[in-house]
Amino acid sequence: MSAAIFDVARIGPGEGSEPPRSRLRSDAPAQTLDGTWQFRLSASVLDIPDDTWLDGVAGNWAELGVPGHWNLNGFGLPAYSNVQFPFPIDPPHPPDRNPIGDYRRTFELDPALETVAAVADSRILLRFDGVESAADVFLNGARLGSTRGSRLTHEFDVTDLVRPSGNVIGVRVAKFSDATYLENQDMWWLPGIFRSVALLARPAGGIDDAFVTADYDPTTGRGELAVRVATDGEVRVRIDELGIDMVVRGTGPGIVDTTLAPALIDAGEVSPWSAETPRLYEAVLSTAAERVSLRVGFRRVASAGGILTVNGRPVTLRGVNRHEHDPEHGRVHSEALARRDIELMKQHNINAVRTSHYPPHPDFLDLADEYGLYLIDECDLETHEYEYVEWRGNPSTDPTWREAFLDRIRRTVTRDRNHAAVILWSLGNESGAGSNITAMADWVRGHDPSRLIHYEGDWSSRDVDVYSRMYPSHEEVRRIGEEALHPVAFDATADEARRRGLPFILCEFGHAMGNSPGGTKEYWELVERYPRIAGAFVWEWVEHGIAVRDETGRRLIRYGGDFGESVHDHNFVIDGLVSADRELRPGLVDYAAIIAPVVFEIAADRREAAVINRYDHIDLSHLRVQWRRERDGVVVAEGELEVAAAARERSVVALPSEARDDRRAPEVADVLTLEAALRGETSWAAPGHVVARGQHVRTGAPVREDGTAPAAELFDLRARPFVLGTARVIDPPRLGIWRAPTDNDRAAGWDEPDLPPYAERWATARMDRMLTRLRGRERDDVALTAWTRDGTPSYDAAIDAVWSWRAVEDGLLLHLDIEPHGPWEVDWARLGIDLTLEGAPVGLDFAGYGPGPSYPDTDSGVHFGWHRVGASDLVTPHVRPQESGSRRGVRDATIRTETGAVRVRVLRGGSTDAGVAVTVSPWDRRTLADTTHASLLPAPTATHLSIDIAQSGVGTATCGPGVLPRYRVPAFAASVRLLFSPA
Ligand code: GAL
Repeated sequence: MSAAIFDVARIGPGEGSEPPRSRLRSDAPAQTLDGTWQFRLSASVLDIPDDTWLDGVAGNWAELGVPGHWNLNGFGLPAYSNVQFPFPIDPPHPPDRNPIGDYRRTFELDPALETVAAVADSRILLRFDGVESAADVFLNGARLGSTRGSRLTHEFDVTDLVRPSGNVIGVRVAKFSDATYLENQDMWWLPGIFRSVALLARPAGGIDDAFVTADYDPTTGRGELAVRVATDGEVRVRIDELGIDMVVRGTGPGIVDTTLAPALIDAGEVSPWSAETPRLYEAVLSTAAERVSLRVGFRRVASAGGILTVNGRPVTLRGVNRHEHDPEHGRVHSEALARRDIELMKQHNINAVRTSHYPPHPDFLDLADEYGLYLIDECDLETHEYEYVEWRGNPSTDPTWREAFLDRIRRTVTRDRNHAAVILWSLGNESGAGSNITAMADWVRGHDPSRLIHYEGDWSSRDVDVYSRMYPSHEEVRRIGEEALHPVAFDATADEARRRGLPFILCEFGHAMGNSPGGTKEYWELVERYPRIAGAFVWEWVEHGIAVRDETGRRLIRYGGDFGESVHDHNFVIDGLVSADRELRPGLVDYAAIIAPVVFEIAADRREAAVINRYDHIDLSHLRVQWRRERDGVVVAEGELEVAAAARERSVVALPSEARDDRRAPEVADVLTLEAALRGETSWAAPGHVVARGQHVRTGAPVREDGTAPAAELFDLRARPFVLGTARVIDPPRLGIWRAPTDNDRAAGWDEPDLPPYAERWATARMDRMLTRLRGRERDDVALTAWTRDGTPSYDAAIDAVWSWRAVEDGLLLHLDIEPHGPWEVDWARLGIDLTLEGAPVGLDFAGYGPGPSYPDTDSGVHFGWHRVGASDLVTPHVRPQESGSRRGVRDATIRTETGAVRVRVLRGGSTDAGVAVTVSPWDRRTLADTTHASLLPAPTATHLSIDIAQSGVGTATCGPGVLPRYRVPAFAASVRLLFSPA
């Protein structure tokens, strides 16, 4: 075949490659081919120059780094789409306009490899760990074959072709191919050789492949290894720590023959592996020719009676979905970033990752073993585009695609099967149901009975071991939890009866897009309540923002559509618990608290506290439980508690008398805080890291008598600017019921599919443009009362308010009474007072729930305290600007601007017993709503202050239910008493 003919439309796996084998750490020589390659891009398969590109002779070639994506390195532009397909569904064809990248480099063979290759029967393999989407591979002019499966490993035998020097390797890569029909994951299209390329020496008599299962018997505490090693002759198996040193028979060279029974090795008493106790033993497999090391974790994964267990104990998967994403380098792995991800996850109580929606870089598996993370290792498969055509012709149902499906799952499982962290194999994502999915499941079952099988795309759950769903409502999750507790109906189908006996997981929930996800706590209550529910995985870990530089060199974060794509899904790819730069979003802090492994329940009289251990395997001896009592911002007593609770047990401890608040009421609050913190250093956090917190908060509120002697100058409500504290008010206080729509507000919740999104309903009701009419005014030397009515254009619903201002010694008192008037058909976004102060904000000090922002349905990660927030933390720098930054339960706040400061205190009386929510933003809501990217927000010049009596929750309507009814804000009457004074 001429090199210029590139077949990118053939159904099936790649050709010419080796069968898959496990990833092993070997002492056989290897040579990296990463680095600078020559590169050229053709716009279409029809435009590839018909030349002798494989001769390695220089010509008009550019340079490109491997690993890397060409369209993040100056050759073309990235494109983002979700379910939509970037070209017609005309399988197996890509369109003509299909960029083709030719890669080429020369190399000398490393003498170490040459030495091995010189021995008879030794081999040299060329390995690719990831090439998107399809490649033809050539060495020294000969075609080795092709790859299919972008995130899968492909190896070619080059023994007979490779030379000591002057080698030319050529790789022709298509951006789109037949494989694209199976790889329509919700992510950027990022072609290229994006994982490493290497040459591996395979010594004759070496260990080509191994499959080691390490079982743990929870009843005896003993471990057993089932060992299969692909080699001729015998292999020595050593685990020094366990005194194991045995010789077993190989299953023959090449790949492990899994039809042969494994050699069983009794490991004696072992410490089991779990995400909480990631105990690994170093195992060495050796022959005369090669030594391979593995880190073995003994553990048993099972499902019985609808309960998912690890080492015989039910487990709760506190999960996230993780894509590989680096804002500069796309899906190129870096160890530093993978470690950062895992450390952040562990610091936030996450114990499980679904590798959505493809096997991650092989090193990620090592890190998961080492740090302790349960993995759902997912196959590189998604045919979601077929949803557009009602799943007509879905490859999952078509036998001509069967080998392609099977090849993908074989490569997934085989590469990763020696990792303790993998507890579930996932067949893929959103590919519908069909016989090819069944064939994959059958293959996995036959190959690796030590793990369970997951796949969400077929709700009959016929082929899988766990029932899995994404984004069901709370009510549905409750029903699924509940159904396991009742007998199966007599007329249930066999599938139905079987499904009801399976553990249940939410492989996706809590869509973390923008100011989100709300309602997670309510899901987690269900996870904890129903034994059948084995856990849930937030969608998703990281936002896929792509960093670019503008003409001035400024770094900007981009999303779908920003690169001129004609088919795209906007910012739907910006939906993570951390930003692309791994800044924490408030959703992560909330989730960490919701899934915390320790829960404190402090009795109302503070005489005792229940400590609930939600670890599945360990007691609390690694934690120190500290208590601290603060009264009006001052620590008045503190100490440590002796707490003992076995895994999943609850114990009650007495609290010392100094922890109580049995004296006079506090001015602001008397707070008892219990914290569980790490005693020692771990691989992911320093001693003192807090894993869980519980509080008992007794608030007070200062009382002010009306009519105190006047000192402050009373302002005129219409005059501006006037001074509050020392801050100059440039827009006087008025009522606000609108917010800058969050991503969730802009989406129709799955619970109200027939209603427009809230953002639209608010806009239709014109809540963003309320107009005020001063209905009356009375004033004397110390008091000013104004009666206002606020309404929206064209409607007759209004809000009446009475603003009573009174000058007192240290400031101004405001008694505000609010009463809705007429029919308000749409819930409000909030109800509060908005005013604008001169100068950009520089900080906020407050007594209330913080330090981060929260909304009524995202309030688990905040705690009562006397917090200081700097200018950069006032609002969340969402890539798509939107409402953020509200601090709730605030009783005393000082807002500092560039030119002044004002202190606001909540006084007793009024309907705001829970305090107010304070938002201090450098931008007004209209600007936030109308600006598409954070980088386009203007430089702040003013401080926009909102003091809210109520705020709507945020929900998770971008994918899932909207705001739960209890967190919405229907029109209501309210009153608040505030004191404004100098700071
Ligand atoms: C799911 C899908 C994910 C992602 C998510 C929405 O349907 O599995 O890949 O698209 O929705 O962000």
